[in-house]
Amino acid sequence: MAKFKSKWICQNCGYESFSYLGKCPDCGRFSTFIEEVVQEKVEVKAKNSSMNIQTSASFNYTKIKDVKVDKTIRISSGMEEFDRVLGGGFVEGSLCLLAGDPGIGKSTLTLQTAKNISSQNKKILYICAEESTSQVKLRAERLNADCDNLYVTQQNCLEEIIKQIEELKPDFLVVDSIQSVFSAAILSSTGSISQIRECTNILMRIAKQFNITTVIIGHVTKEGNIAGPKVLEHMVDCVLNFEGEKYKTTRILRGIKNRFGAVSEVGVFNMEDSGLIEIKNPSELFLSDRETVSTSGSAIIPALEGTRCLLLEVQALTGSSPYPNPRRVARGVEYDRLLQILAVLEKRVGLNLSKQDVYLNVIGGIDIIEPAADLGIALAVLTSARDAHINQQTVCIGEIGLNGEIRSVDNLEARLKEAQKLGFKRALIPKINNKTTRERISKINIEIIEISKITDAIKGAIC
Ligand code: TYD
Ligand code: MG
Repeated sequence: MAKFKSKWICQNCGYESFSYLGKCPDCGRFSTFIEEVVQEKVEVKAKNSSMNIQTSASFNYTKIKDVKVDKTIRISSGMEEFDRVLGGGFVEGSLCLLAGDPGIGKSTLTLQTAKNISSQNKKILYICAEESTSQVKLRAERLNADCDNLYVTQQNCLEEIIKQIEELKPDFLVVDSIQSVFSAAILSSTGSISQIRECTNILMRIAKQFNITTVIIGHVTKEGNIAGPKVLEHMVDCVLNFEGEKYKTTRILRGIKNRFGAVSEVGVFNMEDSGLIEIKNPSELFLSDRETVSTSGSAIIPALEGTRCLLLEVQALTGSSPYPNPRRVARGVEYDRLLQILAVLEKRVGLNLSKQDVYLNVIGGIDIIEPAADLGIALAVLTSARDAHINQQTVCIGEIGLNGEIRSVDNLEARLKEAQKLGFKRALIPKINNKTTRERISKINIEIIEISKITDAIKGAIC
């Protein structure tokens, strides 16, 4: 007989407390605690179901050299951009969480993937937990995805879902969305942390035990009562974030966690009337609106996203501030990173920004996380403040240290190759100390300007 306890659980990160807390000690969010009834031991099983889901792994130990490894079988999503993020396709029997803001296109992406997988003679079960089957059918017609091997069911109850999985024995399962699925064995409300965690746990065991490749969709919520998929990240094999700006059609699929491949790979899509279209050369798209003449406050950065290099334009705007504390706005770049670069520009270059507002924006809605973008950001700010411009044909690569030194970056060769491919003629790069790197990049047809200090970069780049 299961014992019941009442607990207060942070709906953002899953932190548990025996009393209400206004602020979560773990994630620091306010008003996220909700009281939930928690059972000590929960057994989820469909009524009259013979599907015996193992509740724990066997604890027999064996020598690592005797462990037999099954050959990993990958199922292609039918889209190169998606496969790249997955590390070559879905691994059979894996569970993948696709997270993103509501309305970003998660259901569209999974339905298109389901269509492609069905053409590989695989049976797919699409659980519509938040939409009716007719709504999904309408979307399928729009995407040309009403194919033979694709089965849909409108179901929220996990026990019933288990029954249908048992009956149909699908190769591929989609749960849209996990926040709308509940288990009757758990007393908390649908969408609460306990429900989401337990339902994912069971789906994970089903995926592993019966070798059903599973995709669960999760809405990322801002503040609110519905639990975010953050708490699931450690449980699942693969976490993918589907991102994009609200009023733009570009969508970016980013690998956050992948047990079977590299993380931080990105896939780029465009949301069109007939669904998501892959963008094979995103740099071209991101630079397509660029002004043809040199303008102040604009720099081109070859940024690495996983194994792939994307050319991104970063724009800066400075101007005298009407506020006592001038504004610093960073979109696509970490705020603290911008402040650090501004501090280096003030101290090492003598650029006085203390009474200036600074706005920085990365075009295309991509976030640049790597420090190799520092030089481009610094030069964009500097050219805006001095009303100068960087040569149109130049790309900027390099991390800036606090002393104003330009530090080396990873994978210089891939960055220069991408710049050359898109017709750039010059690159500002950190000093090369390595002979093999020098030999390799000498084969790339692009003029190289090596710099060791931010002040040298100003001399080399600014017209
Ligand atoms: P959807 O996949 O329902 O989003 P999510 O599952 O993440 O909530 O997509 C919703 C948006 O995508 C909606 O605003 C309409 C748009 N859309 C298109 O532009 N083209 C299409 O072919 C489809 C199916 C949707
Ligand atoms: Mg949806």
